[in-house]
Amino acid sequence: MSKRILLIIGGGIAAYKSLFLIRVLARRGIKTRVIITKGGQQFVTPLSAGSLSGDIVYTDLWDLTAEAEMGHIELSRSADLIVVAPATADLMAKAAQGLANDLASTTLLATDKPVLYAPAMNVRMYDHPATQRNMETLRADGALFVGPDAGEMACGEFGDGRMAEPEVIADAIEAAIGAQPRPLLGKHVLITAGPTREPIDPVRYLSNHSSGKQGYAIAESLAKLGAQVTLVSGPTGLDTPEDVTRVNIESARDMLSACEAALPADVFIAVAAVADWRPAKAGDKKVKKAAGGLGALELTENPDILKTLSNAKNRPGLVVGFAAETNDVIDHARAKLKRKNCDWIVANDVSGDVMGGDNNTMILVTPDGADPWPKMSKAASADRLAQKIAESITEMSLT
Ligand code: CTP
Repeated sequence: MSKRILLIIGGGIAAYKSLFLIRVLARRGIKTRVIITKGGQQFVTPLSAGSLSGDIVYTDLWDLTAEAEMGHIELSRSADLIVVAPATADLMAKAAQGLANDLASTTLLATDKPVLYAPAMNVRMYDHPATQRNMETLRADGALFVGPDAGEMACGEFGDGRMAEPEVIADAIEAAIGAQPRPLLGKHVLITAGPTREPIDPVRYLSNHSSGKQGYAIAESLAKLGAQVTLVSGPTGLDTPEDVTRVNIESARDMLSACEAALPADVFIAVAAVADWRPAKAGDKKVKKAAGGLGALELTENPDILKTLSNAKNRPGLVVGFAAETNDVIDHARAKLKRKNCDWIVANDVSGDVMGGDNNTMILVTPDGADPWPKMSKAASADRLAQKIAESITEMSLT
């Protein structure tokens, strides 16, 4: 699940840096919802914060429209972390005292989530015993702090009080929410999953027992690592994993067109159980039993999507195929690797209950060798494959 923070922008000249912070967080896959105090609005507008966060910006405790969108209590609990940046002396004093006379202070009092403060103020205000006392109180209450930095201030003085830089605040946010590293940020992964349906007539089709579970699990694992995932899926009863773009298709030919339309991609993973054959002529009217029925069904070969994409001009940098085998698993997988010009084949021993089941036994076959994995859940093997892909992509971009 992608992480979300609630950012309270207080009234200080450093407020402009908080707009950059929203962008930095978006690049790291963290969503931001924003509250701007009255003072904050003297420096940045709700319109600019909203354009960057892609969400409505909350400003007023008594705004009935905003309350109807999301009540302030819910707002205070809807995020993984509350970040106050810039945290002014006034905001911290209110929070330390438990005052609740505007939206920001009420939110800070009503929350059950951790709070990270990025203080920013004039050096004398920062050094004042009252501010230091308030920060001690907040720390004792469990609050986290990032910065301030020392340096030249907007008012011309030198000393502690400059708000930490957006990248540094983003690091502190990631550490606070225990965000997973996202090594695949900025990478596009294209995945096929599920069965295809090859029409015989408008009401009948040829298909197979693929549930789509493995492909969906891989899509989910890759999205969690930050990849932009396009899942081209045949009909399944599965929900689209979070942060995954799903394109629904029925036939193999539609799957191929959808994949070609989704290129370019950094990685292509063909998990779908594509029907190798389709009826040569699909009737546009229902075939009637009385009229002699179907007779012999003439079949014609479907395009091989994996082979087509792995030989395409804009071939993704890493192409991974799946092979369902019942015997001589590694030998068949090696042959398939060559025949289909892929980089890796994930060989699946389907002699047991793999189709539609929750577990599988996989062997990762690459030109360097075969790595057999122990029997594990489809979700666990998806995580393992996603991790391998992330390592390989990182290596590729280093060399
Ligand atoms: N595949 C594909 N398009 C097809 C058929 C298969 O993209 N028309 C992909 C699958 O998604 C999978 C791999 O190719 O990644 C498995 O192919 P498979 O059907 O097992 O290979 P075949 O070459 O048909 O070999 P076999 O004789 O084992 O059926």
